[in-house]
Amino acid sequence: MRIDGKEYRTIWYENNVVKIINQTKLPHKFTIKELKTVKDAVHAIKTMEVRGAPLIGGTAAYGIALAGQENHNHEFIKKSAKELTQSRPTAINLKWAVDRMMKKLSGINSDQILGIALKEAKQICDEDVKFCENIGINGLKIIEEIYNKKKSIVNILTHCNAGWLATINWGTATSPIYHAHKKGIPVHVWVDETRPRNQGANLTSYELNEEEIPNTIIADNTGGILMQRGEVDMCIVGTDRTLSNGDVCNKIGTYLKALAAYDNNIPFYVALPSSTIDWDTKDAKNIPIEERNSEELSHVEGIDENNEIKKVLIYPNKSKALNLAFDVTPAKYITGLITEKGISEASYSGLQKLFK
Ligand code: MRU
Repeated sequence: MRIDGKEYRTIWYENNVVKIINQTKLPHKFTIKELKTVKDAVHAIKTMEVRGAPLIGGTAAYGIALAGQENHNHEFIKKSAKELTQSRPTAINLKWAVDRMMKKLSGINSDQILGIALKEAKQICDEDVKFCENIGINGLKIIEEIYNKKKSIVNILTHCNAGWLATINWGTATSPIYHAHKKGIPVHVWVDETRPRNQGANLTSYELNEEEIPNTIIADNTGGILMQRGEVDMCIVGTDRTLSNGDVCNKIGTYLKALAAYDNNIPFYVALPSSTIDWDTKDAKNIPIEERNSEELSHVEGIDENNEIKKVLIYPNKSKALNLAFDVTPAKYITGLITEKGISEASYSGLQKLFK
């Protein structure tokens, strides 16, 4: 997708380094960062220089390749794989990508590790681009149907950033929106700010602006009243892990939006590539929910009049804060799962039909 009119992917390998867009500086500064070692990759994932389930999967895959570049010894690669998998706990794509890389490298001669790892990491990323494009083609049909009935702007609410910045390209939740826009269907996006990291305001709105898609940032609590007023036609969100029973784990606050949508009879869709399906965990209670530093809540970051990024404290000094990063929306509140293979019911049989 475009930034300042120039096409980018979120991650690529060039001149022996992995390059990423440093998302902690967006929307105020667009900077490209080089990852030279597996430690750099772990750090980028942990500090959310890269984030979003598919992109952290892609970064972990390239992290394994960087490990192979540093030291093509199987023990070192294994140790690196463990560090990468543990860098963030909730998004299943991370483990999925590392497992796939390790399977590919198992039993390979040391001198072939780097070549094979780089090829597989690129393949994981290329596949994600194709999957996200297909999610867009499949999701477009839903937007088109609403437009054909309504004959006026389709208002879509999204939470967090499940845009191209969270994937390698296209995004998951945003891909149907980009496809609708390209087809000339008028769309407008309500962008949940998504406290505390503000991925909606800082990233989703930013990338929609770059693609010239009308959007309005709202506080996380505003979606409910907009739904009651008939100003939301549908919701589309992403996911960090979808269980085979259709329960969806996504950025904190997704569940409350799904409840409001359900109460107002508004379709609530979740867009995901198959790499986000966790076929093994049977009960949502067993999903590890990331708890992040409470400083993300008590402090906010912004740009001052000298164009410098500053962080300020907004809470009382002595207050405690709890920063859970994800929640789970039960399948019963989800209208459908938009995947690369088609749209499925949020249920075991729905997913089975498409994927097994
Ligand atoms: O904490 P983040 O920013 O990595 O969380 C991202 C999300 O929750 C996204 O909605 C999800 O990963 C889907 S990304 C296509």
